[in-house]
Amino acid sequence: MLAIIGGSGLASLGTLEVSHRQLLQTPWGEPSAALTFGRIGKRPLVFLARHGDQHSIPPHQVNYRANIWALSHSAPLAIVAVAAVGSIRPDLKPGDLLIPDQIIDYTWGRPSTFHEWPDSAVTHIDFTEPYDRALRQRLLAAAKASGTTVGDGGVYAATQGPRLETAAEINRFERDGADVVGMTGMPEAALARELALPYAAINVVANYAAGRAASRQGISIEAIHEVLAASMQQVQAIIERMLSSDD
Ligand code: HPA
Repeated sequence: MLAIIGGSGLASLGTLEVSHRQLLQTPWGEPSAALTFGRIGKRPLVFLARHGDQHSIPPHQVNYRANIWALSHSAPLAIVAVAAVGSIRPDLKPGDLLIPDQIIDYTWGRPSTFHEWPDSAVTHIDFTEPYDRALRQRLLAAAKASGTTVGDGGVYAATQGPRLETAAEINRFERDGADVVGMTGMPEAALARELALPYAAINVVANYAAGRAASRQGISIEAIHEVLAASMQQVQAIIERMLSSDD
């Protein structure tokens, strides 16, 4: 079964035939929302709204451990995370989609491991490739088959939020090698890896990052919401295609 974590602009999946919802308690507290189980076509799917059903949980307060733990206990084979990003690269425009292949983590103070003293031994995970290689390929193939253009690869800078960045911060991220910036990619990806769950992301470019192109004079939050609303059709098309070819 595929799990989808929906971010800003994707609080539900339009084509999902819902069978039931389940609010799980986890050793790490409550997930952002009840898990929504259902089908797209013949394929089962579980959906979780990262920011809660009412979009009320900011990125730094999302209970990433509870979310990943709850999903891992609903028997998913893989997690596809959908997340809005700002674009640092001029060729990545609002409305574009990207399947990133790397992460730089600038977040701080977020509980970011399941392995904590005194309940667990020190545990290190390999995170050389933060996104699952095979799952990325499946997303790219599904995008191609559904006629949706997506960028293949890119470095996702995970920031703390909830404020947007300064222009100087974006310049720094670019010098570091980042292509896009978002607030929720970490520790989500690392926690999935700790539980050995294949995890990959679809990034939806909502805006040019601070100080760049049309955002030189500032970023319009309304414009971000409009772009996200318009782009989610494409995200759904990729997910539907992925499920229909998931034999
Ligand atoms: N910065 C950080 N996160 C974001 C942005 C941004 O510009 N746009 C959408 N999510």
